[in-house]
Amino acid sequence: MNEIYSEEELKNLPFMNESLELEKRVEDLLSRLTLAEKFKLCAGRMMWHTKPIKRLGIKSFTMYDGPHGVRPDTMGEKRSTYFPVAICRAATWDLMLSYEFGKAIAEETRELGAHMLLAPGINIQRTPMNGRTFEYQTEDPYLNKHLAIATVKGVQSQRIAACVKHFACNNQETNRFTESSEVDERTLQEIYLPAFKATVQKADAWSFMTCYNKVNGIYGSENYNLLRKRLMDEWGFRGFAVSDWNATAYTNTGGCVRAGLSLEMPTAKKYSKSELTKAFENGEFTLEDLDENIRRLLRVMFLVGLFDDQSKLPKGCRNTPEHQQLARKIAEDGIVLLKNEGDLLPLDINKVNKLAVIGPNANFRLGEADIWSGGGSSQNFPPYEISPLDGLKHKCKNKVEIIEDPSLADITIIFAGLNHNNGMDAEGEDKKELGLPSEQVNLIKNAIQKNANTIVVLISGSPVAMDDWIEQVPSVVEAWYGGMEAGTALANVLFGDVNPSGKLTMTFPKKLSDSPAHNSERSYPGGDKVFYDEGIFVGYRHFDTNGIDPLFPFGYGLSYTTFAYNNLTINKKKINADDTIKVSVDITNTGDRVGKEIVQLYVNDIESSVERPQKELKGFKKVELKPDQTETIVFELNKDDFSYYNPVENSWVVEKGWFKILVGSSSRTIHLEGEIEFS
Ligand code: GLC
Repeated sequence: MNEIYSEEELKNLPFMNESLELEKRVEDLLSRLTLAEKFKLCAGRMMWHTKPIKRLGIKSFTMYDGPHGVRPDTMGEKRSTYFPVAICRAATWDLMLSYEFGKAIAEETRELGAHMLLAPGINIQRTPMNGRTFEYQTEDPYLNKHLAIATVKGVQSQRIAACVKHFACNNQETNRFTESSEVDERTLQEIYLPAFKATVQKADAWSFMTCYNKVNGIYGSENYNLLRKRLMDEWGFRGFAVSDWNATAYTNTGGCVRAGLSLEMPTAKKYSKSELTKAFENGEFTLEDLDENIRRLLRVMFLVGLFDDQSKLPKGCRNTPEHQQLARKIAEDGIVLLKNEGDLLPLDINKVNKLAVIGPNANFRLGEADIWSGGGSSQNFPPYEISPLDGLKHKCKNKVEIIEDPSLADITIIFAGLNHNNGMDAEGEDKKELGLPSEQVNLIKNAIQKNANTIVVLISGSPVAMDDWIEQVPSVVEAWYGGMEAGTALANVLFGDVNPSGKLTMTFPKKLSDSPAHNSERSYPGGDKVFYDEGIFVGYRHFDTNGIDPLFPFGYGLSYTTFAYNNLTINKKKINADDTIKVSVDITNTGDRVGKEIVQLYVNDIESSVERPQKELKGFKKVELKPDQTETIVFELNKDDFSYYNPVENSWVVEKGWFKILVGSSSRTIHLEGEIEFS
C-alpha cells in the first residue's frame, strides 16, 4: 500500500493490462488505493472533473453537460452541435433517431476529451409548468423507457458513459433543492421508475445522477432505498451514482456513503477529507461501503477506457456536417402539425408571392447567452444557428418576397411561443402561466384581422394554452426548440419538402386546472412536500379516465397525407401468462404524398379489481408509406403489458379476464379495437 511505482512498473501492474478481464482490473486497482486516495476519489474538482491520483496513474475523469449539446465551459469557448431538445426528439417517436443522437453527442463528448455526458434527462413530465419540460421526453412511462434505452445505447456505443438523470421524481423546479416528492409505491413502479430501471436492465447505463429533491422524505443523494436497494441490489446497476451539483448540501456524509453515492459534484463538501474521516471514525460507514462506491467509479473509468491506449478508443468528432444534418433530421421529424384547416399548409413556393413573417420567435436563437439565461445547464454554444426567419429567407430566395405586413401578404406566418428566460422554459424556476404572453395573443389576433390566411408556429419546449386565439387560426405548428438547424427544418416542413410526422408526447391541456397535478396546492406546487395525489393518473391517463377533453391529446399529430387502419388481428383469443400475443394491423397511405405514421397500441383492462387507467400505451411503430402503399404492422405483447403493480403483494399482477387492444393514431383517435381474455 502507498508504494511508489516507476512509469515502467506502473505500466506492468495488472490493472493496466487491457487483456485482463474488467473486474480483475477493478479489484487490482482498488486494492492498491490508500484510504486517503479513496477519499480523494469521492469528490470532484473544477466543476466537471474527478481528482487524479498520480501515484497510480489515475487520470481525471471528465463529465460535461448537457442533454442536447456538449458544453465544456460556461461561456462558449468551445462550440458543439446544438441538437433539438429532448421533447422534440421524443416527438419523432423514432428510436433509431434517438440512438443516432446518443451516438453523435457522445462522439462530440469524446472529441472534447471527456468521458461522460450528463444526460439523458428522463424525468416524467408531470406538469406542463415544469421549467425543464423541454429537457425531458414524455408523460408516458412506456415511451419514456424506449426512448431512454435507445439514447443510452447510442451514447455508450462510443465508450462514453451516459449519466441518467435526475433520479428520481424531480418533476418540478419549484423548491427543487428541498421539496420532498411524496409518491406511493404503485405510482413509483408504474410511472416514475420504469425508464430509469430500463436504462439499467436494457441499456446497462454506467451512471445515474441523484436528484436534488427528497423522495418520500429522503434526499436523492442519501436515499438508501432508491440507490443501494432498488438501483443496485434489485435492478443490478453496475455503474456509479453521482450527485447533482451541490445536491448533497443538506445531506449527511455517512448517509450518502451508505446509500451508495460514489461521487459528490462539483466539489468536496460532505465528501471532504475531514468529513469523510470524521464519519468513518464515528462508524457512520464501513470500509466495505466505501470500497463498493469506489469500485463502481473505477469500473466506469475502465469502461470508458481511462487506462487504455487512447488510440484504440472511438475517435470522436465535433461540429461535423453529419451531426448538423442529424440535428436537422430530428428537428424535421419532431415538428408536430397541430391544425391545418383549409390545407393552408404545405405552402406552394410557386404560388406564394408575398409572405409576411412576424412574431418574437422569428429570430429565435440560443445566442451567446451564458448558461443561466440560456435555459440553465442544458444551454450550449453551437458554431452557428439557423433561425426560423433565416430558414425561410434561404428557402424563398428569388422566389417569394418576405415582408412584415400581413395586410399586404398572401399568407402570414407568426413565430410565437416561449424562450429560455426565467419563468419560461428554463431550469431553476417553473413557468408562470400556461398561455402565451398577452402581447403575442394580441399580435395573433391583429394579424388575423388583417389576413385570415395565418399560420402560427410555436417555438417552445412545453405545452401552452391556446384557447383565446386558436379558433381563428387555420394552421398551427409546434416546432419546439429545434436546435441549430431548426430554421432549415421548419422551412422544409412549411413548404412541403418534408411531410410532418411528429406526435405529441405530452398532453396539451385546455386549461391548467384540467391537468392532474393541478388538483390542489398540495399536489402542485406543494410546499416542503409535493403530494403526487394523482398517483398513476398522469397525463392522458388522467384525461381519458376522467373524460376530460385536452386541447391536443398525447400521441396527436397531423400529416400532409392521410392514413387508413384496417384488419386488426390478434393471434390468440384466450391467453395465459406465458403466452406472447401478436397483434397485426394494416396501415395504408390514402393520400397523394409520402408520409410517416406513428401507429400506437394501447391496452384497457375491461374489468379489474383495482383502479386502472382507461388506456395505457404498450406499443408504437413509425412507418413510412408511399401513396397507396399498405404495410402490416405487427406488435408483440406479453403479460407485462397487461399487468399492474400490486403494492400489497409487492409484485406485478395480471388479472384474469377481458382486455381491450386499442390501435390508433393518437390516444384519443382509436381506429380499431380487439379483445383478448387472460385465463
Ligand atoms: C444542474 C442540473 C443538472 C446538471 C448539473 C451540472 O443543476 O440539475 O441537470 O447536469 O447541475 O450542470
